[in-house]
Amino acid sequence: MSNSTPTTATTARDAPVDTELAAAFAQAYPMRPIPSTGVVDASPISSAPSRETDLDEIWRAVEPETRARRNDIHLPISLTFAERLCDAHPETDRLLVRVATLLHDTGWARVDESRIIPEGFGPDWRRSGIRFEHERQGCIVAREVLPPLGYDRDFIDAVCAIIEGHDTRMVAYGLEDALVRDADRLWRFTHTGVAVSSTWFSMTPAQYTDRLEAEVLPELLTDAGVRMARAELERSRVLLKTAVLR
Ligand SMILES: [Fe+2]
Ligand SMILES: [Fe+2]
Repeated sequence: MSNSTPTTATTARDAPVDTELAAAFAQAYPMRPIPSTGVVDASPISSAPSRETDLDEIWRAVEPETRARRNDIHLPISLTFAERLCDAHPETDRLLVRVATLLHDTGWARVDESRIIPEGFGPDWRRSGIRFEHERQGCIVAREVLPPLGYDRDFIDAVCAIIEGHDTRMVAYGLEDALVRDADRLWRFTHTGVAVSSTWFSMTPAQYTDRLEAEVLPELLTDAGVRMARAELERSRVLLKTAVLR
């Protein structure tokens, strides 16, 4: 994972894209969604939550940051999805994917909370200033909490390269980046994700599950992610009776 300076920018409010990194990743993984090389578990996410405890010191270090924007719900669920995606891609750097997923949204705790919903979840959310700011602040959090826990400079740079642009940049730069992006989206397909996220977008559960299918599912980069998303979406729709509560 490179930490090089972006080389091209589109408009002032679009995220800059390093075209070399994006092209190299597209060449390395030409088939989309990216086929799995390991086991795909699409069972309900709550049936097999993360049981690994090696990141507990990071959790404790960012506990205050988990209290913003329901990160205390989003981040643990996304971490379990990240671990399942790593099982589906054993060739990946598992620790990098897990740590980057855990920390990716901690920056929401360091921005003006009153701007999060109106700007960060409005029609042009991906290009909003508050989105860029939460990514920048997330990298600051990572650089604060990881060094005292023994993580080295190269690893932290790789974590920050994923956090920076995870929402605002449309393309992934590597497999780890792609898995974090899918883990970040997958939690929304669970009934808990529907419950929390639908309120951010002022939608009913039925409207929100329709949006997930139309807009978020096509953004998923891995076949494992697509299969997990479809399975969770189907379960959420049945459970929440979205066919009749429309
Ligand atoms: Fe984010
Ligand atoms: Fe997120």
